[in-house]
Amino acid sequence: MAEAARSIRPLVAGNWKMNGLKAQLAEAMAVRDALAAGPADPGTDVMICPPVTLLAAMAELAAGSKLQVGAEDCHWEMSGAFTGDISAEMLKDAGARAVIVGHSERRGGHGERDCIVQRKAKAAHRAGLTAIVCVGETLGERRAGLALEVVGRQLAGSLPDGARAADTIVAYEPVWAIGTGVTPTSGEVGEVHGAIRRALSQRFGAEGEAMRILYGGSVKPANAAEIFAINDVDGALVGGASLKATDFLAIVAAYAH
Ligand code: 13P
Repeated sequence: MAEAARSIRPLVAGNWKMNGLKAQLAEAMAVRDALAAGPADPGTDVMICPPVTLLAAMAELAAGSKLQVGAEDCHWEMSGAFTGDISAEMLKDAGARAVIVGHSERRGGHGERDCIVQRKAKAAHRAGLTAIVCVGETLGERRAGLALEVVGRQLAGSLPDGARAADTIVAYEPVWAIGTGVTPTSGEVGEVHGAIRRALSQRFGAEGEAMRILYGGSVKPANAAEIFAINDVDGALVGGASLKATDFLAIVAAYAH
């Protein structure tokens, strides 16, 4: 429902993926400074999730500002012999307030199944982080008419019991729209977001009604407003266009309501 959706505060989150050396922090500073120069309430939450190497520095430069900082992935254990992995507690300690889990680049590239994603979301909650849980079908699955079934299954298996609107965000990212410049039609996005909303409210009641559902996949300044106008779209998870402050801020402006 459009009116109900607009009662949810949007979130525009940038996922920098494996991009950015220290010099790239200037882009985050530009976002921070533009938010400071704008209205007292930008009308949307704004977050950047940098690679973990930049997390602490970005959290420091964003401290006390309207720019929130998140992370891209976590391990499900708190600590231990897991070479190369980072726990949710470590991310929190470095200044993150959220973490993306179940991104298709993790599901596809690292074989992460729903039960792993669910463990990671639980770890995020344990550490006091918001879990941004990604779901989305492949092109083959969409062509086979399986989009709603796949997304429904991922959602059921990836979200932990007891998820709340304050600690859990769902991101619908059709795999075929990520980094391709191709986006689903408004009807396709609306159909999936509506199905996600129904599943969330069935399972989590009022908490599910209030949970944010982001769209991700080739969100650009040129299509941001059109996507935000779709029912049950409560924000965006932005990849490539989040790397340049000017593009990212143009998307933020489209979501300020
Ligand atoms: P693009 O915006 O580059 O398509 O990436 C989307 C994404 O995967 C965000 O998590």
